[in-house]
Amino acid sequence: MQFSIKPLPVDKLKTSCLIVPVLGQKRVDGSALAAAAEAAIATALKSGDLGEAAGSNLLLHTDGPATRVLLVSLGGDSKTTAQAYLDACKAAYQRALTLDCKEVTTLLCQAPVEDQDPEWLLEQEVLAARTVAYRFDRFKTKPAPTPVKLARVAIGMPGAKARLMKPVLAAAEATANGMDLTRDLGNLPPNICNPTYLADTARKMGREFKMKVTVLDQRQMEQQKMFSLLAVAQGSAQEPKLIVMQYNGALATRKPIVLVGKGITFDSGGISLKPGAGMDEMKYDMGGAASVLGTMRAVAEMKLKINLVVIVPTCENMPSGTATRPGDIVTSMSGQTIEILNTDAEGRLILCDALTYAERFKPETVIDLATLTGACVVALGHHHTGLFAREDKLADEILQAGRYAMDTCWRMPMDDAYQKQLKSPFADMANVGGRDGGAITAACFLERFTKAYDWAHLDIAGTAWHSGANKGSSGRPVAMLARFLSTRAGAK
Ligand code: BES
Ligand code: MN
Ligand code: ZN
Repeated sequence: MQFSIKPLPVDKLKTSCLIVPVLGQKRVDGSALAAAAEAAIATALKSGDLGEAAGSNLLLHTDGPATRVLLVSLGGDSKTTAQAYLDACKAAYQRALTLDCKEVTTLLCQAPVEDQDPEWLLEQEVLAARTVAYRFDRFKTKPAPTPVKLARVAIGMPGAKARLMKPVLAAAEATANGMDLTRDLGNLPPNICNPTYLADTARKMGREFKMKVTVLDQRQMEQQKMFSLLAVAQGSAQEPKLIVMQYNGALATRKPIVLVGKGITFDSGGISLKPGAGMDEMKYDMGGAASVLGTMRAVAEMKLKINLVVIVPTCENMPSGTATRPGDIVTSMSGQTIEILNTDAEGRLILCDALTYAERFKPETVIDLATLTGACVVALGHHHTGLFAREDKLADEILQAGRYAMDTCWRMPMDDAYQKQLKSPFADMANVGGRDGGAITAACFLERFTKAYDWAHLDIAGTAWHSGANKGSSGRPVAMLARFLSTRAGAK
């Protein structure tokens, strides 16, 4: 889908569909339209057929330069909230995709949204359009009944703004491209998207954007003494990998930000086998890996002025005669010993060694992302990503980035009181802390490996994936991370 910015007014522009925002039954775009469109809209609004809920829409036909006009409601009030705008954008593109249109023109960005600037409106519209137009049909042998025909979108903006908005548009498209990569990786079946596939994806991206990519194999991980990570991998026929990507957009003297993403390409639970129902969804247990790879793609395309390192520990968690047993004790790369009481708590076991490995980059900040616990889904549902951090400053930065990007996080507690639950009579710690506060004790486990730097943990078990009939990868939290990183880069 190609986007362009068109200086207003667009009244003379030939288009097969003009998308017009309406608030409280009144047009709010404030730009001149062709007489035929004005007349059709006035009649339609008088009829009262346009619903007041944000996203309600009404399709009109005119004989003016716009052959269709799609009215979209921003709500019934006098003000538009950020959420109402996003709902309207999504609904408008969903409707537009059902039409026989190869191109549309939109005035959505002219909507007055509380507390938001034009940059935000443009970015949200582009991300909404790309999100609803995303398809994952490469394993379908028959063409889809409703193929995506929409190829070009012209976004109307006041002439003075049009040129300034070009870089904003490019950045939004870069974020969308990153999200698409994240979605693709999450949706791919686990027989294809295995650790080697993730490594190949990283290498390919490295070639495209001229980044250094290093992949440690099993032998090299043994040399690094990553015995916690290797304990998870040892039940699988797939070789584990540790993928490291380095993007240098700033001076070498500037410390890098490190993103670590959990890359379990399939989580069967191991010997602590999961129940069968819904186990297929555990192919998205590499959602952390997918989101850091997608973020790296976005950052590289935006050419952000930061140094960024992405680390992906990746393997499968499988039961077999060589698999780790409950009761096994391993020594992590940090030297701390772990009694593995439950082989299904494997995410923390691969992350702890990757977090120790991160120390060598002398990071400014480390953020790990993981589909770490079902308990986080119980606590927060599917709306907010679970955020854990020692430092308020970093936590606030992430919360703010999430609110701006409409890709929100919610901070959870992580104080020392919870650490007791990880006591083991035989090793320095157990890998599980019981059912109660399960998302928190998982974060507390990771915390023990992050003393050398400023750190935050994001539990994306509830947000990286949509379950149910329309199941699939959400692309979250790439938009939040892109915002966090561009703020750090001083770009915005
Ligand atoms: N990958 C799962 C967590 C998960 C569950 C992600 C549901 C997405 C949806 C993780 O490896 C896991 O199995 N965690 C266990 C931890 C428990 C054994 C302490 C869990 O949440 O049940
Ligand atoms: Mn597990
Ligand atoms: Zn897992």
